[in-house]
Amino acid sequence: MADGYGHPGTDTSAPLVLKDPPPKPCRVIVVGNEKGGAGKSTVSVHLAIALMRMGLRVGVIDLDVRQRTLTRYMENRNRWMQSTGAQLPLPEIIRIDGSTERDLDLAEQEESRRFNEAVARLRAVCSVILVDAPGGNTHLSRTAHMTADTLITPLNDSFVDFDLLGDVNPQTLEVLRPSFYSEMVWQCRKNKARTLRQPIDWIVMRNRMSPLEARNKRKVGEALNNLAKRIGFRLAPGLSERVIYRELFPAGLTLLDLTEQGSNTSFTMSHVAARQELRDLLILLRLPELAGVELVF
Ligand SMILES: Nc1ncnc2c1ncn2[C@@H]1O[C@H](COP(=O)(O)OP(=O)(O)O)[C@@H](O)[C@H]1O
Ligand SMILES: [Mg+2]
Repeated sequence: MADGYGHPGTDTSAPLVLKDPPPKPCRVIVVGNEKGGAGKSTVSVHLAIALMRMGLRVGVIDLDVRQRTLTRYMENRNRWMQSTGAQLPLPEIIRIDGSTERDLDLAEQEESRRFNEAVARLRAVCSVILVDAPGGNTHLSRTAHMTADTLITPLNDSFVDFDLLGDVNPQTLEVLRPSFYSEMVWQCRKNKARTLRQPIDWIVMRNRMSPLEARNKRKVGEALNNLAKRIGFRLAPGLSERVIYRELFPAGLTLLDLTEQGSNTSFTMSHVAARQELRDLLILLRLPELAGVELVF
């Protein structure tokens, strides 16, 4: 897959051939949130394809040992390419399985080793690695968070999901204390700063925003602004609720593939607006790998 584009029949599980040493350092982007259903896999797939369309070599790691959404997405994409003959960007993908060791220490060692090997393997051939983290606070998830250069946390636009980030006063929306997930990220940031002397750029993005819930939207936005200042993350404008995200999975397509050969979904104004939201997210990420590169979708 020299051009990074998958051709029909490409085996996504084929071993990578490591040729040259990496030309430049590789950025690890982790898409994580303890909560399931926040949009991690949807955001991971869309970002991976967007970055490939911008000319970057992208590798993805599926850490969700139960749901495997990302792996299934890419399998569907491969099948779609075979049946339509379309040539679409197809990232290298590595799926990591959880350890079956019964001893916790041994299980964690094995999982750390599997994760580090996957990162090393992709680092040699990619300039960006995207990790789709699992829901829940697992060892694999914590290991990935500790490796992140950029951490993106999608968050459903609801106080139920907000609660994993922070506890707020319902009247004033003032942050009372950070909660589980923020504490975990804090530990990972400390750990990375101590061991590697490198920061984690943390971006929280709202997902599935509804135009019908103006009051809820405003209140969640205000609380997130307060929390961003208190625990140090950047806030992205986020993605709206759109049916298209749910419809694309069986074909393994993204919003960026709708105008390609074989796509039988008509491209509407809603999709134009959705692409704009994705563009805004990419701009906000401020990835050095995209410095000076024109957005091409
Ligand atoms: N912006 C969105 N609009 C509509 N549906 C969405 C949106 N983002 C995600 N979804 C849907 O929500 C569900 C959960 O998303 P997913 O990406 O699998 O979350 P996670 O990986 O965090 O568990 C999926 O059915 C997905 O299609
Ligand atoms: Mg997922």
